[in-house]
Amino acid sequence: MIKRFLVNPSYIENIRDYTDCVIIGSGIAGLSTAMRLADHNIKVLTKSSLSDSTTWYAQGGVAAAIKKPDFWETHYRDTLTAGQGLCDREAVRILVKNAPGMIEDLIEAGVKFDISEGEISLTTEGGHSFPRVLHAGGDATGEEIEKKLVSHSRSLKLIDFYPEYFALDILTGKDRCIGVMGMDIKSGKLEVFPTSNVVIASGGIGQLYELSTNPPISTGDGIAMAFRAGAEIMDIEFVQFHPTVFRTRDSGLFLISEALRGEGAYLRDCRGNRFMVGRHPKEELAPRDIVVKEMIRTMEQSRCNFVYLDATHIPYSHLKIRFPNIISKLRENGLDLKKDLIKVSPAEHYMNGGIKTDYDGNTNIAGLYSCGETAATGAHGANRLASNSLMEGLVYGWKIYQNIEKRLRESSPDIGKNVKAAVEKIIDNEKRTGKKQNGDKVITIETKIDIDTMISSLKNIMSSKVGILRHAESLQTAEKFIGFHIKNENIYNRKDVRVLEFANMLMVADLIIRAASIREESRGNHLREDFPGKDDKKWRKHIILKDDKVYFKKVD
Ligand code: SIN
Repeated sequence: MIKRFLVNPSYIENIRDYTDCVIIGSGIAGLSTAMRLADHNIKVLTKSSLSDSTTWYAQGGVAAAIKKPDFWETHYRDTLTAGQGLCDREAVRILVKNAPGMIEDLIEAGVKFDISEGEISLTTEGGHSFPRVLHAGGDATGEEIEKKLVSHSRSLKLIDFYPEYFALDILTGKDRCIGVMGMDIKSGKLEVFPTSNVVIASGGIGQLYELSTNPPISTGDGIAMAFRAGAEIMDIEFVQFHPTVFRTRDSGLFLISEALRGEGAYLRDCRGNRFMVGRHPKEELAPRDIVVKEMIRTMEQSRCNFVYLDATHIPYSHLKIRFPNIISKLRENGLDLKKDLIKVSPAEHYMNGGIKTDYDGNTNIAGLYSCGETAATGAHGANRLASNSLMEGLVYGWKIYQNIEKRLRESSPDIGKNVKAAVEKIIDNEKRTGKKQNGDKVITIETKIDIDTMISSLKNIMSSKVGILRHAESLQTAEKFIGFHIKNENIYNRKDVRVLEFANMLMVADLIIRAASIREESRGNHLREDFPGKDDKKWRKHIILKDDKVYFKKVD
């Protein structure tokens, strides 16, 4: 049976005043939505500091067809090609057609894109037919965007920010969303924010894997809480791995942007041969899933656990302007991009699927919306086109803004009173009857379980059994591990952030394994060793998980 809450509502200590909209997450998707809705009463909850988001780490850039001969239709075609037959065409059309307008909005919010010879400088990345990737600070695009969005949104009076605030669960009543349960991380206080509009924009799932480009906060919380509330989850088997991640001396990871290949860098096997030549017409700039697949093959054949990235033939004067952060990080690790080959290997990077939404950001639960990496609009299909992620967060955040704006205009003057009363009734009832949907464990701050070991085992099993390559047996092994832990009552009704994150990670891992076991084919970012071919006849459809049921949606 699916557990509905991480912490039972009967433990709630405080019910806040009604608010027009609660946004969970402060990356590009969450903050841009909040800024647009700033005429209303908005609360932004974020688990860490305001700027600690995956957006901050985006190096390469943001894609938009802003300059002829490029046109939105070419961007559309490239996105569909990368998505390997699984993109929702309308979702892609909305994404790419609105992209240039979103760039104008970013510039208005103060974002300074790099300029060359008086024009916005554009680069290319894997799968793009034209240079259409805008960048900032050379290779610090996400940082520049996030900084500007944070400072702009802070200046808006009606937005309240709750940093270090862990959103735990969505409260629903009569088939609609009526609030968010959360925990103030510093005090451990459990509260509800009554609202009729909740936007989940809480980023990715990278922490499920040993190697990921995501920050430590990416524990899949948004997907897990939406699923517990009864939301549909789509395309979750498609976990994207980035080809070129560098292992630092201190065992950390550092992404080396695909834009470096966009500027001409080569991939070489450990004997020095360019292995992408002859394997794809775009060579090193093939879509990401294809590059990763060829890298795995090459590493196996050459018995090396890395390949080289080679930028030594590119004029250093150019590299210095375009990749100042990469150059400095490599230098800290004793390497010089001008003359050294850089050892790289793939690492988890992006969740293509997530909470299923329609074209306006609605989930199947009234009043619950999602955008950004947490959401599955269908625009990425089986493999996201490089630099489409920041843009997807912006475009669908804007769609959600229009949607919520309309609902707020049309809602009855009593909505706040009614929603708050509905929340109070649920909490009262839980407290009075002592009904504990998750068992009746008392919350304790002290945890007797060795959470670090449990998290490491989960990462290990996900990396070795549900990573780039999967097969039925590996998925079964992972399923057993997850099934055993997911039933553990000790991980619910607690105030320990790591334990609660672990519960979310288990839930998301379970969903990935369920969908990956069902999809008996290889497509995009989902590679089944036991089903190596793509099977369009049977599998050109989305897998949708809701509670313990599975649905399929055909792709047009
Ligand atoms: C990169 O800079 O290589 C990452 C771009 C992306 O994931 O879209």
